[in-house]
Amino acid sequence: MLPLLLSSVTLLSAPALAAVAARGEGFIHAPVKATRGTPKLLRRQAEEATTNHKAGTMYTLDIDLGTPPQTITVILDTGSPDLWVNPTCETSGEPEYCAQFAQFDYTTSSTIADTGYADILSYGKGNVTIEYVTDMVTIGSAQITDQIFGVNFESYDIPMGILGLSPAVNPAGGDYPFVLDNMASQGLINSRAFSLDLRGVDSPDGAIIFGGIDTGKFIGNLEALPILDPSQTPSGADRYWVALTGLGVTLPDGTSQTSEEIAVPVFLDSGGTLSRLPTPIFQAIGDVFPGAQFDPDSGFYVVDCSVANQPGSLDFVFNSKVISVAWADFIWELQEGVCVVGVLPGDDEPVFGDSFLRAAYVVYDQDNRSLHIAQAANCGTNVVAIGASGVPADLVGDCTGVEAPTPTAGAGGGLDVTQTRAPTNTITGASPALTTLGFGGPGPAATGGRKSTTVGGLGPAPTGTSNGGNGGNGGNGGNGGNGDKKNGAVAGVSVGSGAMVALAAVNVAAWLL
Ligand SMILES: *[C@@H]1O[C@H](CO)[C@@H](O)[C@H](O)[C@H]1NC(C)=O
Ligand SMILES: *[C@@H]1O[C@H](CO)[C@@H](O)[C@H](O)[C@H]1NC(C)=O
Repeated sequence: MLPLLLSSVTLLSAPALAAVAARGEGFIHAPVKATRGTPKLLRRQAEEATTNHKAGTMYTLDIDLGTPPQTITVILDTGSPDLWVNPTCETSGEPEYCAQFAQFDYTTSSTIADTGYADILSYGKGNVTIEYVTDMVTIGSAQITDQIFGVNFESYDIPMGILGLSPAVNPAGGDYPFVLDNMASQGLINSRAFSLDLRGVDSPDGAIIFGGIDTGKFIGNLEALPILDPSQTPSGADRYWVALTGLGVTLPDGTSQTSEEIAVPVFLDSGGTLSRLPTPIFQAIGDVFPGAQFDPDSGFYVVDCSVANQPGSLDFVFNSKVISVAWADFIWELQEGVCVVGVLPGDDEPVFGDSFLRAAYVVYDQDNRSLHIAQAANCGTNVVAIGASGVPADLVGDCTGVEAPTPTAGAGGGLDVTQTRAPTNTITGASPALTTLGFGGPGPAATGGRKSTTVGGLGPAPTGTSNGGNGGNGGNGGNGGNGDKKNGAVAGVSVGSGAMVALAAVNVAAWLL
């Protein structure tokens, strides 16, 4: 047998200290940092060096791994389920940036054990080949024992490890216990739920609360929205999908326009910088901004940067709740003096990324398969634990502020979000040189998280032959991808898991040399 990744470490049986996690308040509070607050909003232009236009905002969390604990920074991603660390900086696309962050030295952890399983995870942008280990994972005050996570040995286009918090992407199941699962099963939280408060780019420190809700961070009630069944969604992948039921716009003069009632599945992805919405909605949003011109080269609507200073908002409707996003938060200055509307077309996997999530306070409840959303605000801290029966129905935010009114059926009008049409204004001739830029943050930001896994459960360990052996059965063939926008793969097309596991073995061998 090939010596596995952790050959220098004595394999441990289940650590004796498992399952004696201290029971605390029933919730775990941890700060979330916005890393590199770009794409730059207009109002930050003065203080921001324009060195890396392609960067997106990434929301990150510091976690501790191993014994003694090593602090590692990971991207917080609600669009994928796995935790893994140690990106390959050389092939990350941003080697210097990547190298700023500590890597987990697994050889010094006394509690680590190898599982003998490997996997390849593919994201919207980038992929990673990992070997699964188990070790202590500490997040805030919570110490999780025997958490399975991945240690990378070859990754592309991802500059930082990822903490995934989505359900198992494959609806058929067969996955292993993820971080949220273990927090609940080890008694650290009462149910598999967490809330996320990302904050604006101007006040970048948000928080994640596992098993709790901070009523000091929103206005009004929390609207409960069922997480859509994967079969109701365009990609068939199980993510935090909810139905967008309408779109409105409040114009700078205070007047508003609304769409007719719709029911468009959209998922919430904290690992995604951009929002991608079905083409008719994308066009309706683009055309709202005064003077916006569609740029066929980049796919964005280009808008005069001064529009970001106008007091308009986009109003996204979810049943009786409206989440307003200020124009300033939806307009990005991608290049000196060149601004775009921060949404692209996305018909395969419509997604709300950070530009939306900064305006919303969202509770993600996996046990009850529901999201609970409210307009975000900040008026102090009052954390309430989520009990075993889920999010209290009568919880109201402590913050005062004006919520956008719920649109009444048939009222307003003026926004057509159902028909694809020719853009009102299109840039002809030279576009403003946007085509040379990469968009979206690194890693899963580009298209919203893990698209496919090689195996539904853990694949078998790589074997030691030079061709990777038989690679085992490769699990159940993964979730079959869920809509690769680039190559047009569609839901249900299975990734060749056996081949990938074999590849992993080859790479493990190379890595060990
Ligand atoms: C991972 O990404 C690299 C770079 O884009 C690509 O060459 C490679 O084929 C990908 N691997 C898998 C297994 O998708
Ligand atoms: C959670 O789900 C259970 C079972 O479906 C239900 O009884 C309960 O009311 C739900 N709680 C919330 C807060 O949605």
